[in-house]
Amino acid sequence: MRKENMGKSKVLIVGGTGYIGKRIVKASLSQGYPTYVLKRPEIGLDIEKLQLLLEFKKQGAILVEASFSDLQSLVEAVKLVDVVISTMSGVHFRSHNILLQLKLVEAIKLAGNVKRFLPSEFGIDPARMGHALEPGRVTFDEKMEVRKAIEAAKIPFTYVSANCFASYFAANLSQMATLLPPKDKVLLYGDGNTKVIYVDEDDVGTYTIKTIDDPRTLNKTIYIRPPENILSQRELVEKWENLSGKKLEKTSISGKDFLASMEGMDYAGQVGVGHFYHIFYEGCLTNFELGEDEEEASKLYPEVKYTRMDEFLKIYL
Ligand SMILES: NC(=O)c1ccc[n+]([C@@H]2O[C@H](COP(=O)([O-])OP(=O)(O)OC[C@H]3O[C@@H](n4cnc5c(N)ncnc54)[C@H](OP(=O)(O)O)[C@@H]3O)[C@@H](O)[C@H]2O)c1
Repeated sequence: MRKENMGKSKVLIVGGTGYIGKRIVKASLSQGYPTYVLKRPEIGLDIEKLQLLLEFKKQGAILVEASFSDLQSLVEAVKLVDVVISTMSGVHFRSHNILLQLKLVEAIKLAGNVKRFLPSEFGIDPARMGHALEPGRVTFDEKMEVRKAIEAAKIPFTYVSANCFASYFAANLSQMATLLPPKDKVLLYGDGNTKVIYVDEDDVGTYTIKTIDDPRTLNKTIYIRPPENILSQRELVEKWENLSGKKLEKTSISGKDFLASMEGMDYAGQVGVGHFYHIFYEGCLTNFELGEDEEEASKLYPEVKYTRMDEFLKIYL
């Protein structure tokens, strides 16, 4: 181990081949943490996952075999490390298994050695979503259930609220059902002036890893609110128009009509509409000030050169 990395916590990432998990593994390796990644026997013939795991191994990660169907194997895995980060799936149109983490919480409790656990959050703060709409509230309710188990077991924690991942919410100028910028027309939510927070996924990885050995983030919620990325949808669209040199035709949809669009949609679509409503009409990411048990990542770690949205959008030109 390099001298400057001595004394750094050993970190296990559970869900490391996933969408945000792989960024967190990458950040952990690049910040010099001894990085362990869970390898589940259930991946079977999924060669993409296996190759990603082997790629992590080449970069210095240690692969640890364990299964959610074998509690003792999870206990043995978490015993190897100081910090556990879970990036368990939680997006309905991909896969949603937030409550599986209750097994991981149980394993951490039994192992008794873990100094910090970061459960799979990385989005809207579920503690502020008691009023959320059905059916999308399931995301927040389940994340709160996991929090309750963590706190009941007295496991030291950090919750990371990462706001809107840029590739999901900024690249498409916050349009649903596409991941690419619209070519001619853009739909604005209400007046399009509600402030939203867009965060590059690699920055989510970087900030998350920064928190794990930091006493200032112990038993706290950390919000990632890079100041220049706090933008309204209109401001985001303007950035794209400046980059592309083309004005988009703007139409607007009222909150009522937007909610009505849920009808006839499949479950994942309805969950999505609910989340968009809270973000773009209600302003749930920005309509509160941080409290005492809460910190803001870009203030804690001013050395991180986070990606601004005009820079982020360039690749979509
Ligand atoms: N803020 C935002 O804009 C935003 C956007 C997307 C997601 N998120 C949040 O980020 C978190 C992670 O989501 P994601 O999209 O990155 O997840 P994902 O890629 O769909 O899945 C992550 C990992 O979950 C594990 N997993 C899934 N099903 C499993 C099962 N049955 N048993 C054991 N492990 C299983 C897998 O781990 P292996 O590596 O072991 O296979 C998988 O790679 C969620 O909390 C989600 O709500 C936030």
